[in-house]
Amino acid sequence: MAKLAITGGPKAVEESLEHPWPVFDEREKQALIEVLESGKWGRSGFDYYNHGDSQLWQFERAFADFHDGAYALAVSTGTTALEACLRVVGVEAGCEVIVPAMTYIASASCVLMCNGVPVFADVDPRNYTIDPAAVEAAITPRTRAVIAVDFCGMPCDTDALGEICRRHDVALISDCSHAHGGQWRDRGVGSHADMAAFSCMPAKVLAIGEAGVIMTDSEELYQEAFRYHHAGRERGYESPGHTWPATTLRLSEFEAAIGLVALTRLAEQVRTRDRNARYLADGMADIPGLSGLEIDERVTRWNPYRWCFRFHSDEFGGVHRDVSREALVAEGIRCGIGPTKPLYTFSMFASGRWGETGCPVRCPLYEGEMDYTKVHCPEAERIHETEALDLFHTFLLGPAEKMDRILDVFRKLRDNVDELRSL
Ligand SMILES: Cc1ncc(COP(=O)(O)O)c(C=O)c1O
Repeated sequence: MAKLAITGGPKAVEESLEHPWPVFDEREKQALIEVLESGKWGRSGFDYYNHGDSQLWQFERAFADFHDGAYALAVSTGTTALEACLRVVGVEAGCEVIVPAMTYIASASCVLMCNGVPVFADVDPRNYTIDPAAVEAAITPRTRAVIAVDFCGMPCDTDALGEICRRHDVALISDCSHAHGGQWRDRGVGSHADMAAFSCMPAKVLAIGEAGVIMTDSEELYQEAFRYHHAGRERGYESPGHTWPATTLRLSEFEAAIGLVALTRLAEQVRTRDRNARYLADGMADIPGLSGLEIDERVTRWNPYRWCFRFHSDEFGGVHRDVSREALVAEGIRCGIGPTKPLYTFSMFASGRWGETGCPVRCPLYEGEMDYTKVHCPEAERIHETEALDLFHTFLLGPAEKMDRILDVFRKLRDNVDELRSL
């Protein structure tokens, strides 16, 4: 008789083990109504954004404080936050920016949007974040910045990356879109880099609607970012200036109001996710063929957006990772293949075509050579094809008893590996 749900046996989990997401209560509703009735809906055209009582100003202050940064600037999305960071540190035609092979597309497409050339570096198989040795090997005289993505919420080794960047005089940009509230050596993610970008779109661990945040300790970089997000204007309506050809990336007071309330829940959510993420990783130790990512001891707070774990087919009866994923889904555990495929394999890179000219890669201002069809990052490819699995962060907000039930489903699969192999 079939034991696994995928072969017609009983399902291990009938009700969802996930916490509803995004969360809100009366406080968000009240905050939105207050903004509506105030008539102060956004930054443009008014000078109240310079005052402490605007939602944006308060949200930015609270966000920076939570992450141990000096300045935060709310913008329209995580993608535009990244693009603004690159503009501000001087990425333009002819520049290269090193990015991890395994991340969301925005961490690389932002480089193209600034007319720079993304150079892909492989990831560390122990924790799926960009490998500092691969970064060092990819640096050329054209490198202007490195984008370190706290992939799936795991903080990067910003000690090693910061040292490499300082030595080569290139900017370190943290993409913390998966890691809000996490800490590296007791300081907030993003605060170890020259600039940091966060996405706050609805699925993220700090969900606001559509939004992004830029963070930096440098007043100069902050002022530049402010100008870039505000049509090239300085802070203050009195000084339109238009000193820089820029764009408009302003966020409205509505999202900022939601963000302010969401931030009041973040500390508790981070504590819960951190505890559960470590509990699951420890609990896997007795399941042959599964293992959690390695957690560096300098990761002092961990808030995974996607909780990645590793599937080792050779220790799991030779079953393919994808079959196991389908079996987990059939048992009632919504499980994904965490990392995206290596970005250079997407057609936008492989075809090498951006408009008629081929800029910025085929551009007289670019003195390097880049053919993305020849790029090969073996770890990112192997991890994507055979190893990675993940659970969405909503699984990590429950009590320990739910984590035990997740582990029981993993054990059920392992105990019935012969049935799985027959598929
Ligand atoms: C790692 C990473 N960087 C950047 C972004 C871009 O954020 P947004 O969708 O808010 O533009 C995302 C969004 O999913 C992301 O996962």
